[in-house]
Amino acid sequence: MQHPYIITISSEKGGVGKTTLATNLAIYLKALDEDLPVTLLSFDNHFSVDRMFRIGRKPHAGTVLDFLGGRPLGDLVEVGEFGVQYLPSNRHLAEFGDKLDGLDHLARCFASANLPGVVIIDTRPVLDNFTHNALFCADRVIIPVKDTPSLENSRHIYAFFDEHKISRRALRLLPSLLDSRIHYDGPFKDSYQLLKAYAINRGYRCLEGFIAKSPKVESLNTNPEGKLYPILTHGRQTEVHLQFTHLARQIYLDLLDCNELRLDQLTPAANAASAG
Ligand SMILES: Nc1ncnc2c1ncn2[C@@H]1O[C@H](COP(=O)(O)OP(=O)(O)OP(=O)(O)O)[C@@H](O)[C@H]1O
Ligand SMILES: [Mg+2]
Repeated sequence: MQHPYIITISSEKGGVGKTTLATNLAIYLKALDEDLPVTLLSFDNHFSVDRMFRIGRKPHAGTVLDFLGGRPLGDLVEVGEFGVQYLPSNRHLAEFGDKLDGLDHLARCFASANLPGVVIIDTRPVLDNFTHNALFCADRVIIPVKDTPSLENSRHIYAFFDEHKISRRALRLLPSLLDSRIHYDGPFKDSYQLLKAYAINRGYRCLEGFIAKSPKVESLNTNPEGKLYPILTHGRQTEVHLQFTHLARQIYLDLLDCNELRLDQLTPAANAASAG
């Protein structure tokens, strides 16, 4: 049974760029290595994943809710644009939070699927059962922070890891939606350096680099076609394109470097049985 490297994008703050990061990171990873299976799912009800990746209008076999209900992943996963696989979103998912059986419900669903490559999970701006499950099974958690309040807020994610005795090693902050035009006097010259200093001061680790705020990127979800256009194809002239290229390369190297997948740690007995 092959297990994926799971990347969870999480922040309790709304509008910090989680969904933009989840969807575009999938495409940039695919652009780096077209043979890498990349699967995306969202616990949000915005349908951004579906709007960006769905090909045609064919009805889908089920949604992320069916996956959590035990339906085999292979029956549900759709192959979308750019070769990115995705699980269709569900408008009513949030109502089913109490149906999750423990923190490892999602981990068990993934462990029973044969899914190599990378999974990217987009979460809602709330630390509910779904987000907890997505944090619990993650090899890498990316927490976008766009200002001091969102940085302060990330302490709840750290507290969740500490409370459940999960190593903090998976956690990384990513300064996001920064206005590159703002400069300060003094040692920290811009909001990137300032946020990074705050993060280090609190013992939080950051990914290298940041994602800038760009009007072009913001415009990619408003058009007469009702599509959500990717940065790679429709925002190539922006600095955000270069930043995503750099970010995807870091994530890719991290996953190549990963010695033991979180799912393998969580399900050693099941692995031994399937290997034997
Ligand atoms: N680099 C960027 N530059 C400018 N605007 C951006 C950028 N990234 C995302 N946005 C815009 O910011 C808004 C919030 O982004 P997004 O939906 O990705 O955040 P989110 O954290 O998923 O929000 P929510 O918490 O509501 O799910 C969107 O309108 C999006 O188009
Ligand atoms: Mg979102």
